[in-house]
Amino acid sequence: MELSRTQVAIVGAGPAGLALAHLLDRCGVDSVVLEARSRHHVEHRVRAGVLEHPTVRLLCDTGVGERLQREGLEHGGISLRFDRADHRIDFAALTGKGITVYGQQEVVKDLIAARLAAGGEILFGVDDVRVREIDTDAPEVAFTDGDGAERVLRAAVVAGCDGFHGVCRPTIPPGALRVFERDYPFAWLGILAKAAPAQEEVTYAHGDRGFALASMRSPEVTRLYLQVDPDESLEAWPDDRIWEELNARLAVDGGSALNEGPIVERGITAMRSFVVEPMRHGRLFLAGDAAHIVPATGAKGMNLAVADVAVLAEALERFFATGRTDLLDAYSDRCLRRVWRAEHFSWWMTSMLHLAPGADPFERRLQLSQLRYVASSPAAATSLAENYVGLPYGS
Ligand code: FAD
Ligand code: DHB
Repeated sequence: MELSRTQVAIVGAGPAGLALAHLLDRCGVDSVVLEARSRHHVEHRVRAGVLEHPTVRLLCDTGVGERLQREGLEHGGISLRFDRADHRIDFAALTGKGITVYGQQEVVKDLIAARLAAGGEILFGVDDVRVREIDTDAPEVAFTDGDGAERVLRAAVVAGCDGFHGVCRPTIPPGALRVFERDYPFAWLGILAKAAPAQEEVTYAHGDRGFALASMRSPEVTRLYLQVDPDESLEAWPDDRIWEELNARLAVDGGSALNEGPIVERGITAMRSFVVEPMRHGRLFLAGDAAHIVPATGAKGMNLAVADVAVLAEALERFFATGRTDLLDAYSDRCLRRVWRAEHFSWWMTSMLHLAPGADPFERRLQLSQLRYVASSPAAATSLAENYVGLPYGS
């Protein structure tokens, strides 16, 4: 059994784990990242695509924004599509900021490249990860490496960045965490198609057939989503049905239809709100989806993961430089303020835009009233806009 040491053992090479390793490297703190899947898998996993203003700033300011600035699509607003018309929310005018459309897997590729170029260690394809001794100041992570060898990594701190289904959160004794959650009676069927986006900005459509979302990844690639039943199977959605439903839900008077093309990726994502408090137990710190999930409407998931590790990296820098634990002790509370703001925003966007099964006419009128208010009142639009572009860290 091979024994090794580092300052921070990071479980998971998603946006949270990789960004944490990158930020720690910049302040001279050692880390090792343990990832269950292959490098190819994490670099090609299609998920979120909207980066908030603070996420873009952080990536650019820390030297991993070069390709993002070159290939990312900067948007100054979004469109809310209802009553068969577009209603633009002008982020630039309302907040002076915008968002950048750039696939999560591209952020992951950039972070992996930067980490490996700096000589950092990311172990892909590890198995049977067990986090131990988190109540002591010498926690460790046991695992089987990609060659089948048994290994133990000792660290001062373990960062649980292993997503919602990871092993870190369940390591915390039952009763030490408080769980808040909500399931929604719908899911998203997402596709990636080789077709030019028909609309210039991310478009959220609300209507009698349910919710649809039109986004993009490049001038040649469209990302589209449909609200479907939570237990829907992909087999029930052949290409023709997907395009017919998307065209129907995104229909607009006198507007452009969707451009259709080969579907190169498809998947169904559950819609869930989930938060654990606190985001820490002993020397184990949870970050990103390991600690909280938002329904995808509003694109907060990846941005929250990056925001968490920005706070954690600052706390760890102080801890390793001075031995002081004040920022580590404040980590959970500082993150949870932002997490709950995003939880509320994502729940609100989801509730306003989706068609709940069995929704009565009263609820439908409330949704439409809210949409019309947001689209016409600068005060209401500013509230949406400042949440969407991302509130400043620490607010
Ligand atoms: P993850 O990206 O989940 O990374 C966790 C990593 O840990 C993974 O690489 C995983 O392989 C690894 N891991 C898990 N268990 C172990 C283990 N035992 N040992 C070692 N490694 C382990 N958000 C949006 O805003 N918009 C979207 O459209 C959107 N679509 C999504 C679609 C899907 C299918 C999913 C699952 C999420 C989606 N999200 C979306 C949410 C967003 O992608 C996440 O919030 C974001 O990935 C969180 O980053 P993370 O690093 O915390 O977790
Ligand atoms: C995308 C995803 C989202 O969840 C969202 O609200 C907007 C855009 C996207 O994948 O492009």
